[in-house]
Amino acid sequence: MESKKSNLHVLLVSFPAQGHINPLLRLAKCLASKGLLVTFSTTETIGHMMKEATNTKSTNIGQGELRFEFFSDGWEIDEPQRANLATWMHQLETAGRESFTELINRQSEMGKPVSCIINNPFVPWATDVAAEIEIPCAVLWVQSCAVYSIYYHFQHQLASFPNPDQRDMMLDLPSLPSLEFDDIPDFLTLNPFDSLRKVILSQFKNLDKAFCVLVDSFEELERETIEVMSRISAPIKPVGPLFRSTKNASIRGDIWKAADDCLQWLDSQSPNSVVYVSFGSVVSLSNEQLEELSAGLLKSGTPFLWVVKTPPPDMGSKPELPQGFKEEAEGKGMVVEWCPQEQVLAHSAVSCFLTHCGWNSSMECLTSGVPVVAFPQWGDQNTNAKFLIDVYGVGIRTKKTQREKDGIVVVTRDEVERCIFEVTKGPKAEEIKKNAIKWKEAAEAAVADGGSSHRNIELFVDDIQRMAS
Ligand code: UDX
Repeated sequence: MESKKSNLHVLLVSFPAQGHINPLLRLAKCLASKGLLVTFSTTETIGHMMKEATNTKSTNIGQGELRFEFFSDGWEIDEPQRANLATWMHQLETAGRESFTELINRQSEMGKPVSCIINNPFVPWATDVAAEIEIPCAVLWVQSCAVYSIYYHFQHQLASFPNPDQRDMMLDLPSLPSLEFDDIPDFLTLNPFDSLRKVILSQFKNLDKAFCVLVDSFEELERETIEVMSRISAPIKPVGPLFRSTKNASIRGDIWKAADDCLQWLDSQSPNSVVYVSFGSVVSLSNEQLEELSAGLLKSGTPFLWVVKTPPPDMGSKPELPQGFKEEAEGKGMVVEWCPQEQVLAHSAVSCFLTHCGWNSSMECLTSGVPVVAFPQWGDQNTNAKFLIDVYGVGIRTKKTQREKDGIVVVTRDEVERCIFEVTKGPKAEEIKKNAIKWKEAAEAAVADGGSSHRNIELFVDDIQRMAS
């Protein structure tokens, strides 16, 4: 006999970073709305910073329930810890395995045994824990299928990748457009990223043990790549865009306090007039780049909403905006530490998004119908920018050049101004907006009842139910 949905308990485990917490939490809300008990977990250190979630503890969503529980990464809360990525990852695994196992056992003691774990491949050891306790485990891939394919081909040596001396070499992979050197995640091609490359590739360590690979993308967006990769690796189920399938937007996993008053500021702006600028949760720009960007925003004459965050204590210093910028920007734009990005992108005053092209930001703007100025910095952002511009046709990409005054390579103020103009008023602006609206509608259809991602979520819940019975 099949178990009732209300008896199912899904435990999600997220790598402690905003770009991972968001998609995992969105999936958690989506599953709770299907009538399941869902527990979202990450480390205590980051859980402590997710104030809203920590205060919430438990919420009913539809017939289901969402709870939060955290496990130890072996560090004291507020203790600086990430100076050395390899040491930190090792510590996370050693302390995390034990504490995460205790967390699972606690659920059984409370009479709520875990029926399924959904792992974030950045914490591959959670799959081992699931296997030891004999709990079925799925994973949520939080980047694009295209990037999945690139990493997979690199990891399994199925293609030759260019090195820094082969910048003219193209990378051709099945179902993907030819990729130039700058379109490939640079963790794979540039030598300084050795330890990051190991972390990235460790995502595949236990992937074949998962009964299903969910991905925050949708069939209509990446159909061919999903098919190709499902044939050569694990079966892939696209369930995105997850931020659109989410029923309860009010539960957020923000690590920074969002300046919700920026929504009122947007209310006071003309429709389709504001450029929204954000570089996600990890990127920090050099002072030279900040100088050019701030001058470019002012030169563009366009109202702007700019997120300039202070990194956590162990991850860099507070960015310094050029002297006098705040005064000059008075009445022209708003600078905030963090904002409710989903709502900002849905606001009618926003005309374009100048973004670093993290996968979450890419999906959020693409499926909100907002044109893009792609300003990628590193990693998968390069590939996402290539797809946003050349495949999905929703914007233009900035070019880096040497500044005249000191020869430092940046995106100059003139280029910032040019790109904002091109994407909002240039000859291609109309076509770009049309494409953006097309993808928004496709995404809405994918998550609507009977849509491709909606169906995949239902099938996934059926799978859990079957395995639990
Ligand atoms: C990281 C990597 O940098 C990215 O390349 C990878 O694809 C995922 O992990 P991050 O840099 O934080 O992510 O970028 P992104 O993926 O865009 O995620 C940022 C998230 O923070 C988005 O969901 C966005 O909505 C949210 N955000 C950002 C806010 O809610 N408010 C803000 O002010 C800025």
